[in-house]
Amino acid sequence: MRARVRTPGPSPENHVNATTVPLQHQRVLSGMRPTGRLHLGHYHGVLRNWARLQHEYECYYFVADWHALTTHYEDSGVISENVWDMVIDWLAAGIDPGDATLFIQSRVYEHAELNLLLSMVTPLGWLERVPSYKDQQERLRERDLATFGFLGYPLLQSADILIYRAGLVPVGEDQVAHVELTREIARRFNHIYGREPGFEEKAEAAIRKMGKKYARLYRKLRRRYQEQGDPDALETARALLDNQQNITLGDHERLFGYLDGGGRAILPEPRALLTEASKMPGLDGQKMSKSYGNTIELREAPGDVREKLRRMPTDPARVRRNDPGDPEKCPVWQFHLVYSDDETRAWAGEGCRTAGIGCLDCKQKVIEAVLAEQAPIRERAAEYESQPDVVRSIIADGCDRARDSARETMEAVRQAMGLAYR
Ligand code: TRP
Ligand code: SF4
Repeated sequence: MRARVRTPGPSPENHVNATTVPLQHQRVLSGMRPTGRLHLGHYHGVLRNWARLQHEYECYYFVADWHALTTHYEDSGVISENVWDMVIDWLAAGIDPGDATLFIQSRVYEHAELNLLLSMVTPLGWLERVPSYKDQQERLRERDLATFGFLGYPLLQSADILIYRAGLVPVGEDQVAHVELTREIARRFNHIYGREPGFEEKAEAAIRKMGKKYARLYRKLRRRYQEQGDPDALETARALLDNQQNITLGDHERLFGYLDGGGRAILPEPRALLTEASKMPGLDGQKMSKSYGNTIELREAPGDVREKLRRMPTDPARVRRNDPGDPEKCPVWQFHLVYSDDETRAWAGEGCRTAGIGCLDCKQKVIEAVLAEQAPIRERAAEYESQPDVVRSIIADGCDRARDSARETMEAVRQAMGLAYR
C-alpha cells in the first residue's frame, strides 16, 4: 500500500485527496464566536472555505458561545440573538447540515469537562504567554479581562478541538497560536496519561497483529521517522494505521504513540489549516470589519447595499468627471479585484485612468456583482428565517451527533486519568 500525504493548505491547488490522508486527520473542526450578523468579509474569508471543506472531510462547525462570554460576560443578553442569526448566516452561505455537523458549544457539556481536566495539566505560563492574552486585554481596555475565564480562553479552545480528535482546524492567522497550544497540551496529556505498564510489549504485539507485510512496512516507516526525522514517513505510517481494519482502538492509539516514542496518543495533535487572508476590503479600503463600521452584511437589503456602494469614497483626485484617476488609490478597485472578470477590470482600469467613465458607472458593475452574489444567500436566509423550528432542529441534531463523539473521547480520557471507577 502506498499512501501519499501532503500538507493541506488553504488554496484549491492544495486540495488534499481525502483517500490518502489518515482518517483521524480527516475530521475538521472550527468555531466562531457569535458576534452578530456576518458580513461579506466573513463570507469570503471563512464561510466559503468551510463550505468547500464540508465536501472533503467530516466537518464539525460550532457556535463558540462560551468563548463569547469570556469577553462579553457583562452583556450576555445579546448572545442568544447572535447565535441564531449566525447559524442562519451559515446555512444561507451554503453550509449544508447534510454534510457538516453544526452545533452550539454550550449544549455539549463535555467541552466543559475536558476543559476542567486539561486545566489540571496546563502550566499557567503557557496561557499567560499566548499572544492574544495580552493583546486583547490592551485592545479591549474598556472591559475588565483580568478574569480566570479569559485567561482560560485558549484552553477552552483546546478542549473544543481535542474532544473531537480533530486533525485539521481551519483558522485565520490570529488563531494559529491557539492551535499550537492545543498541540502542546495534547502532547503533555499523552505523555502523562498515555504511559502504561508494558507499553512497548503491547505495541510490539499490536504490530504483529497487522500481519507480516504491514508489520514490516510499519517498522520500516517508524525507523525512518525516528532515525531520519522524515515527516512523510510519519504521515504514511499514520495512514497505514488508519487503514487497518482488524486492530482495536487501544492498539491503534498505542501504534500511533509508538511512532514518535511516547505513550498512547489518546488525544491526537491537530494541525492548523491556515485560511488564506481574505482579500475582501471594507467600504473604506481597510479590511472589512464590524469595528471599523465599513461592512456590507451578508443579507443586507439590496437598497442599502446600493446606497453604501454608491457612497463609497473613490480616488480623491477624481473631483470632477473629467479628472482622470488611479485605481490603485481607490477602494472600489479592490472590489473589482474580488468581483470582476478580466474584461470588466480592463474596462474599469482604462476608463478610470482616461476619465472615460464616471465613478458611478464604475461602481454600478460592483453593485450588480455584489447583489448577484447575495441573491441566493438572501433567498435561503429568508427561508430559514421563516422556519425557526427547522433551524432549531438542525442544531439539535448536530448537538446530538457532536455529543456522541465527545462522549467517546471523554470515556477514553477518564479511563486514562484513572477516573473510570464510578
Ligand atoms: N477563538 C476562535 C475565534 O475567535 C473561535 C473558536 C473557539 C475556535 N473554539 C474554536 C476556532 C475551536 C477553531 C477551533 O475565531
Ligand atoms: Fe475608483 Fe472606478 Fe472612480 Fe476610478 S473610476 S476612482 S476605480 S470608482
